[in-house]
Amino acid sequence: MESAREQGTRAAVAAAAAALHQRLAPGMTRAECEAHAPWVVRIQELKRERRAVVLAHNYMAPEIFHGVADLKGDSLALAYQAAETDAEVVVVAGVHFMAETAKLVSPEKTVLCPDLRAGCSLAASITAADVRALRQQHPGVPVVTYVNTSAAVKAESDICCTSGNAVQVVRSLGVPRVIFLPDAYLGQWVAAQSGVELILWQGHCEVHERFSGEQLRTFRAAHPGVRVLAHPECPPDALAEADYVGSTAEMIRYVGAERPPRVALITECSMSDNVAAGFPELEFVRPCTLCPHMKRLTLPNIASALERLEQRVEIEPALAERARAAVERMLAITSSAVSSAGAPRAEPRRAAAS
Ligand code: 13P
Ligand code: SF4
Repeated sequence: MESAREQGTRAAVAAAAAALHQRLAPGMTRAECEAHAPWVVRIQELKRERRAVVLAHNYMAPEIFHGVADLKGDSLALAYQAAETDAEVVVVAGVHFMAETAKLVSPEKTVLCPDLRAGCSLAASITAADVRALRQQHPGVPVVTYVNTSAAVKAESDICCTSGNAVQVVRSLGVPRVIFLPDAYLGQWVAAQSGVELILWQGHCEVHERFSGEQLRTFRAAHPGVRVLAHPECPPDALAEADYVGSTAEMIRYVGAERPPRVALITECSMSDNVAAGFPELEFVRPCTLCPHMKRLTLPNIASALERLEQRVEIEPALAERARAAVERMLAITSSAVSSAGAPRAEPRRAAAS
């Protein structure tokens, strides 16, 4: 006969499946929700046992984003939230640089990265030695580094930025020339917005570099009236076709404020699924691509991370101190733009005219 505990678990799993389905149908079938539900229940139990929170980037699969995440957002919001939570354990449902950033701002916490192979083409494009060489070539020019980099690269930098605050960070330096690393497309966009001359590195996001202006023109013709929102890691010709350019969180705020009846988020695929769940009245059309690194995160590996308290992110203390300084300078500059929920606010920005 079934024990009271087993009955309780069965009821919790049924409730989790129903809640997921209510949130995510019709994009996710009832059978899919039922398959995810036991993991959702297990992770919720483990979070209570471990005094843990799950931090989820906007690109997480919907069953993670809507099933187990406690704190959600873009890279900047995740950095703030990691610094502010009083949980003892932080599981980062995002890629490795996000887990490292969380560890930098919360060195006393156990920060877990469920799959250490979850990298990033931008982070892989540059090393600390590359940054030192650039500094030698351009003496006295400050280095702004996108958070999509290793702690070792951050440690060589003056200040970090995310796509949500890059223009603000570059302007804040008050100098005519800045070394901006490593995303060349984001750098071109920031240079146009800020009027500051940027010395760029040829790093690219393997997801966003695939979009093009021609693709978006064809897409617009096929979907009359569509509002096109694009991430600034896209190439300039794609950004020129967009109605709005912003970080993942900025795109979400735009959708909430403007409610365009037909909208396309030119970014990673799961973001549309996650946002669409909150706006059933809007039509999301999707010329998107998957980030293979983000997709390494799964409910089973999040559960396993919490069970084993592995993989722990550790950063050598002297290096961490220097990298933390670069992240904290960024947080200090943008803290006045942070809402009570820990998510940064930004004014809508239009793409540069084509
Ligand atoms: P956001 O900071 O806009 O969330 O972007 C992170 C990222 O990895 C984009 O590809
Ligand atoms: Fe890196 Fe691009 Fe994936 Fe973001 S979407 S983690 S920038 S590879």
